[in-house]
Amino acid sequence: MKRKIIVGNWKMNPTTLEEASHIFKKVKNMAQKLNYTHVIICPPFPYISKFVSSKAKISVGIGAQDAFSEESGSFTGEVSPAMLRDLGVSHVIVGHSERRSAGESDEVVAKKVQSVLEAGIHPIVCVGEKERDSHGLYLDALKVQIKNSLAKVPKKLASQVIIAYEPVWAIDAKEPMEPSVIEEMTIFIRKVLADIFGQENALKTTVLYGGSINFRNAPDIITRGKVDGLLVGRESVNIPGFIELLKAVDVV
Ligand code: PGA
Repeated sequence: MKRKIIVGNWKMNPTTLEEASHIFKKVKNMAQKLNYTHVIICPPFPYISKFVSSKAKISVGIGAQDAFSEESGSFTGEVSPAMLRDLGVSHVIVGHSERRSAGESDEVVAKKVQSVLEAGIHPIVCVGEKERDSHGLYLDALKVQIKNSLAKVPKKLASQVIIAYEPVWAIDAKEPMEPSVIEEMTIFIRKVLADIFGQENALKTTVLYGGSINFRNAPDIITRGKVDGLLVGRESVNIPGFIELLKAVDVV
């Protein structure tokens, strides 16, 4: 059975370290029991150093929700991939739609992706259409977004990149995208990746789906959507929902 990747994007939750530690402990205990699933938790920055003990890392990878494109310098308020790597962070979400809607362009995303790779850690690059039209123009827009966001990735590093396909309209929504449509979109994304990296390298890139995942719909999305894993928002801070999700996904 192929190992699946489940990324928990906690966003700006929870508000206390006590609560965060409680959720993390539950996830870590569950993750230790999984055979076919790698769990990566992306908490808010202040909690990261509390979670990156070497023991925890064996069962749960720690990711960040963003990082800056420079290694160090006069950039007030920013955090560099090198600092995160030094703490023990293995993954960084880049270009989440909530950041893109706050003004982050494809060009900025591309620079961040490059700097995360240079630090030797994995970028989780979020892409996805804002809306769908009946003429399929959203496919062209998605293609451009993927190509621009990955513009600074050398072909040989394709295997280090994780793509999180998150149709913006399915984030924070009631329902995720239909699994059969997710499968179509995964095929489309892999074709775009093949254009960029070549067929062989493209197959090494991990493709996740994200948007309104919960413990009920997760197994079906993995099997019928044919993705390598999931990027989970709200449900990742909902214990026991997330525990159920991990259990269910591990056996599909
Ligand atoms: P959601 O968020 O699971 O709460 O829809 C997903 C995301 O924004 O990554």
